[in-house]
Formats: sequence, C-alpha cells, structure tokens
Amino acid sequence: MAATLRASDKGLKIIDRLRIKKGWSKREKAWYELAYISESTLKRFWKKESISYKIFVKICTVIEANWEDIIDEGDPQIEEQTPQSQLTTYQNIPYTGAIKFVGRQTQLETLHQQLQQQDRIAIVAVAGMGGMGKTELAVQYAYQHLTYYPDGICWLETGAKQNIYEQIIYFFQIYLHLEVPQELGGKQLNFKQQVDWCWQNWPGAGSVLVVIDDVAEFPEIKPYLPPAKSRFKVLMTTRLKLTNIQNLSLDVLTLTASLELLESEHLVGKARIEQEPETANVLCEWLGYLPLGLELVGRYLNQVPDLSLSVMLFRLQEKSLEHQSLIRKQNDPFWDLTAQRGVAAAFELSWEKLDGDTKRLGKLLSLFASTLIPWHLVESVEQQRCQRSPKGEKFNPENLEEATKNLISFHLIQYNGEQSYRLHSLIMEFFKSKLEE
Ligand SMILES: Nc1ncnc2c1ncn2[C@@H]1O[C@H](COP(=O)(O)OP(=O)(O)OP(=O)(O)O)[C@@H](O)[C@H]1O
Ligand SMILES: [Mg+2]
Repeated sequence: MAATLRASDKGLKIIDRLRIKKGWSKREKAWYELAYISESTLKRFWKKESISYKIFVKICTVIEANWEDIIDEGDPQIEEQTPQSQLTTYQNIPYTGAIKFVGRQTQLETLHQQLQQQDRIAIVAVAGMGGMGKTELAVQYAYQHLTYYPDGICWLETGAKQNIYEQIIYFFQIYLHLEVPQELGGKQLNFKQQVDWCWQNWPGAGSVLVVIDDVAEFPEIKPYLPPAKSRFKVLMTTRLKLTNIQNLSLDVLTLTASLELLESEHLVGKARIEQEPETANVLCEWLGYLPLGLELVGRYLNQVPDLSLSVMLFRLQEKSLEHQSLIRKQNDPFWDLTAQRGVAAAFELSWEKLDGDTKRLGKLLSLFASTLIPWHLVESVEQQRCQRSPKGEKFNPENLEEATKNLISFHLIQYNGEQSYRLHSLIMEFFKSKLEE
C-alpha cells in the first residue's frame, strides 16, 4: 500500500486562481523548479492523475495553497501499489551479452525471496569469485522483474567514470526527469545530502530496485545506500564475502548447464559436441564449469570451426590461462560480453587486494596435487618452511589462519568440511602462474 493523491475539480479551480494571481502559466518553470519536479509531473497534477503524496504537497505549497483543500476527497488517498502488469520505464539495466542464459533458476527465485523479506534490511549480495556470473544473474533478475519494481530499476556500477553518488543523481535527472537541488534553505548540500534527497523524493510509491554492480569496498558505497526498511531493495554483486549482509553465494554451473551453454549455435554447437562427447565433458571440467571460461572458450571454438575439442583441450592444458581464448585483447572491437575482462584479469582484481602472507599461501596451494587440500598438510609445509628459513622464522598458526580467512573472504578457496579446503581448478592455475612469476 502506498500514499498517492490527486486533485479534485474544486481544488484545481483554487490552484488556477492562485496561479493567475501570481501571473504564472499552468506549466510555469519557476513552479516546477521550486517544487523540484519535472514539467511532466506538473502536467500530471493538472490532469488530475495520482501522484506521490510528497510531490503533491510540494506543488500546493509552492503556489501557497493548502494541499488538503486541493485533494479529491472522494478518491481513496491510499491506493494499491502500481499494478503488477505495469513495466517500469525508469530503468538503465545494461544489455546482456550472454549468448544463452543457462541454469540459475533456483538462484533467481532465492534472490527474489531474499529481496522481498520485510523483516530485514533488503540488501542482498550476490557473491562469488570472478567470472562466476554475478553480474549476469543481476541483469537477468532485473529484466525478469520489471513489473515488480514499477518505480524504477537503477543500475549503478562501482569503478565507472562517475562515482556512485554522481550516478544516482544522474539517474534522477536523466531517467526520472527530476532536478536534484544543490542547496536547500540557503545551505549548500554535499553529495551525500543530495543523494539522501533523491531517496526521500523518489517519485511514486512502489518498489524500486537499486543494483550496485561489482562492490569491491563496501565502506565506499555504504553512505549512499537508500534508507533501511523502505521501498528500496538493494542488490549488490561482489567478489567479497560480506558478513553482515544477506548473501547469495554463487557456485559454478552444473555439467548439464555447462554443456547446454556450449551446445548453443553461437558457441560450439550440438554437432561438434556430439562428435566428441567425452572431451566436451573434460573441457568443462578443466574450465571448472566457470561461466566466463566456458563462454570464452566456446566463442573461440566458434571462430575456428575446424578445431577439434581435443586439440583445444590440449592447448589449454599447455598454455593454461595464457591461452589467447581466455584473454581479452586490448581494444578488442568484437568484445560484446557481459564480462569486462578475461579469466586471469578477473582473478587479478582479487589478487591485488591480498597481503604478502596471503599471496604466499595462494602460491603454496598451487603446489598441491589436488584441488581438495587437507589443511594439516598445509600447516606442516608451512612449519617446515619456517624451520628452513634463513631468518629463523617462527611458525605462527594465527598468521596461517589469517591468510586462510583472507582467501575465503575473496572467494578464492572454499571450506570443504573436515578440515579441508577446495580451490577452483582455474584459481589453482592462476596461483601456479603467480608462483612461476
Ligand atoms: N548462467 C549463465 N548462462 C550463460 N552465460 C553466463 C551465465 N552466467 C554468466 N555468464 C556469462 O559469463 C561471463 C561472466 O559472467 P559475469 O560477468 O556475470 O561474472 P561476474 O561474476 O560478474 O565476474 P566479475 O567478478 O569479474 O565481475 C559473462 O560474459 C556472462 O554473460
Ligand atoms: Mg561482474
């Protein structure tokens, strides 16, 4: 339920008298500017259309009318939310570059449920390692739920040319056609205050989805989040494991979904997979069922139609993450993926944030034969390393714990139960390349 108001015939007559007294036209610029609304909102007011309570009151206040004299009292002041069939027109969701979106049905449903929970602050972090499909899931979710968020889907990106606050203000101006004041009551508003003003004055009364893609530093975006327990739902994507926020941890695709993706005509195609079914399975396994890896290798195979899957697999095993299929070339004019970068470059973003001890642990893990590692082995290797170190380093289990914790926080390893940890196969390859460096 949400508060909206509309003017009565009698109310409009009062307004008309007041505006003539002021010498204003029905769409006077000063009027809608002082009310911080667009010309079209003022037009809606004149057409007796329902508009949000706050905006209605502002329009009346600017013309010096008592809003209670203007409303249509026969009309229920509290209306149902915008009908579910109404698609939001206020959205800036990016285009999807996915050839074919596979799997993830359960995750889409869970995400929707988590966002609708009323008792908690509706922020959900879709989390997972680079290339797992977090951004793609957010894009798909947004497009599939246009009717649930009638008052807008605002897509924000960290690391873009504009800061988060600039993007919010830009959305307000360009997509909602409303001006954001730079001062109020004679006082300059800083960016945080301007953003708060946007949340407070967001038009309509229905739900709004705010997506913040690729959050690398939570404290940087926190001041600009919409108010808690409001009609705003926040969906973030991040490579971090955030502890205080509802998480939707994304895992790799299933073998069936991986093959379904590769079978797409624009990737490997069904016929080629049917010629080498066993190799196709091993290829998916080598890529660790990671959507980014599958998509990149699939596209490469599509461009080289005579290349067999077994030769491709052999080359990948040889060259690992440096194989050209897994790299985004500089200024690649054909790059039309949702992903921004190749596999190693996606992992590099997390690697850059690690401290020296954690990096060393990552490299150490690459020496193990399997991606499933019993942790007592890691401890004993670390102990031996300390004993042998020329500086006579003392083994400190807390340092190892800290480094392990860091790798988990960046989704670079997962706890597998029974004191063992698991690495993604491509992360293992990545750590190996770091060791070789
Ligand atoms: N379920 C899926 N079906 C088909 N393609 C997918 C799927 N999930 C992801 N992809 C594709 O895989 C690539 C990687 O996905 P995406 O960019 O969403 O990863 P990410 O987790 O956001 O990575 P990063 O942490 O680097 O931002 C994208 O180009 C995307 O289109
Ligand atoms: Mg992403």
